[in-house]
Amino acid sequence: MNRVIIQLSDLHLLSDIESTVREVPTWRTLSEVLSVIRQRDEGEFQLVITGDLAQAGERVAYERLAEWLQEWRPRCLVVPGNHDHRSTLRDVFDLPRASSAEDPDSICFSEPLGEWRLIGVDSQIPGEVGGALSAGQLEWLESELASQSQQPTILFMPHPPFSVDSTWADAIGLANQEAFWQTIERFPQVRSVVSGHVHQQYSAIRGDVLCLTTPATSFQFKPGSESAQFDPVSPGFRLLVLREGRVDTEVVRLPRLAFPPRVVEN
Ligand SMILES: [Fe+2]
Repeated sequence: MNRVIIQLSDLHLLSDIESTVREVPTWRTLSEVLSVIRQRDEGEFQLVITGDLAQAGERVAYERLAEWLQEWRPRCLVVPGNHDHRSTLRDVFDLPRASSAEDPDSICFSEPLGEWRLIGVDSQIPGEVGGALSAGQLEWLESELASQSQQPTILFMPHPPFSVDSTWADAIGLANQEAFWQTIERFPQVRSVVSGHVHQQYSAIRGDVLCLTTPATSFQFKPGSESAQFDPVSPGFRLLVLREGRVDTEVVRLPRLAFPPRVVEN
């Protein structure tokens, strides 16, 4: 039986529903993305959100989002991005505490989906834009992979543990990428690593692992850039269809860019 995952990333929601980030009304762009998801009628899909749910960890934003996602909440998995406030997010979304005692605030998940396993890894370093995995998180990831080695697995992690061929974006990705790859290289069940954070679509193969990043539901950055530049393309989400050990995926974008972001002035 095929399983469907919808990944949302980088929502950047504010307390005030009318407020904007760089002139982008992020609640409105999210609303349009959710409308497209509803129209597609994918059946019983699994929702995964890879970070930056709020622009600055605002409780009100989390509470409104939890209401908006009410129909999908029983199958909604979350990992925090650099803009999120972990304890507030955990509180509002009723998320489990991480199993690593070393990182009591981190938010991870390990859940079955049919024959598959979905593992979410918290790559946030509180107060910093870039991410990293602590020794405790790497140990937890290794033990999850070792105990579920028969299940084809997808890892979700906000900060990409791979280059996206963009100088500035790579500088704010996962810092200890080699430690991550050394951890997972013994586990051939890992089929894909799916990230957010960089607000752009990217895909590459490393070994047998499909490495993906996904557009934000808010505003986008230009792929392949030396410095951060807004990209005038519409928001979107990622669809992952899991079939007999294989991942098929596509990015779905809104049909038009209704709210172009204000250009960053250096
Ligand atoms: Fe973001």
